[in-house]
Amino acid sequence: MVTTCDDLETETTNILRPRGFEEFIGQEAVKENLITATKAAAIRGTALDHILLFGPPGLGKTSLANIVALELGRKLITTTGPALEKPFDLAAILSSLEENDILFIDEIHRTPKPVEEILYSAMEDYKLNLISGQGIFARTSEIKLKPFTLIGATTRTGLLSSPLRDRFGIILRLDFYSVEDLTKIIMQSASKLQVNLTNEAAEFLASRSRGTPRVANRILKRASDLALIRGSSSIDLNVAQEVCRMLDIGEFGLDYLDKKILSIINGPFKGGPVGLSSLAATSGEPEDSIEDVVEPYLLQIGLIIRTKKGRCITERGRRVLSGQSYSLFSL
Ligand SMILES: Nc1ncnc2c1ncn2[C@@H]1O[C@H](COP(=O)(O)OP(=O)(O)O)[C@@H](O)[C@H]1O
Ligand SMILES: [Mg+2]
Repeated sequence: MVTTCDDLETETTNILRPRGFEEFIGQEAVKENLITATKAAAIRGTALDHILLFGPPGLGKTSLANIVALELGRKLITTTGPALEKPFDLAAILSSLEENDILFIDEIHRTPKPVEEILYSAMEDYKLNLISGQGIFARTSEIKLKPFTLIGATTRTGLLSSPLRDRFGIILRLDFYSVEDLTKIIMQSASKLQVNLTNEAAEFLASRSRGTPRVANRILKRASDLALIRGSSSIDLNVAQEVCRMLDIGEFGLDYLDKKILSIINGPFKGGPVGLSSLAATSGEPEDSIEDVVEPYLLQIGLIIRTKKGRCITERGRRVLSGQSYSLFSL
């Protein structure tokens, strides 16, 4: 499945998606690298180097791919690794690209191996090497491609084979956002949604957003619903606190799944160490979501640690679970 940049906009009508680097808040190092590379490519008039963006979901990978295309005034063609079932699927997309177009492959780590293999020469030499027929009838044909830029997004670079990873000229990691940056994002989104919100409420919602802009926007929308049905003209601290209670979002933005995993490590596994597969089996959650979504955040805020033998809960994690902590920084 392929969607162009225009389709994507009408499909999601996501008015909250940043429309330029100036609206993309935080991640200064990532932005600096991308701005430099896009400006240089624009001056040279050549295709931008291939870019790999990695980091947990909701931190802005898709948004950045859109921004790069917008800044360069190039077409963005979007697909995902799992959608590219056969080498032909990718070959068809690559051969339809115009000079300096941008191909965005989300979840690139889930691209099937035979498809991934044709990416190598496409990325390196802008050539497609296709094999048709089998056995003694097998033939290789080479098709020349126009220069293009591949932007790949993945949750962890470790999921990519090294031949693929090595072909990216720019590899950038997105980190969880600070409460300060999330407050700015919430303020910006509130203004786009034309809802009023107090500074206090914005800060409170930011502190409950799990370091993730997508979560921040989601909570903001629910808070806006609540303010509306209560007839309040703006989202105040009271509405913000109430909405987090309704959504069962705890301190530091811990959600149901975070708390479930933390409790399992603490309870049945007596604080750990526990391996990923045991955690998945006990919780009934897929290993992927534990490793890509839950763990990075719990590690980041110091509620668990990873050892060679598995995950262990920290003293801080225990205190948060038992509801004793009041501030991340006072622990
Ligand atoms: N740095 C940012 N500044 C403002 N909004 C952001 C930022 N990063 C993400 N967002 C918001 O969060 C949403 C999710 O981001 P997205 O790019 O889809 O994340 P990912 O592709 O990494 O899962 C976007 O639609 C956008 O509204
Ligand atoms: Mg995305």
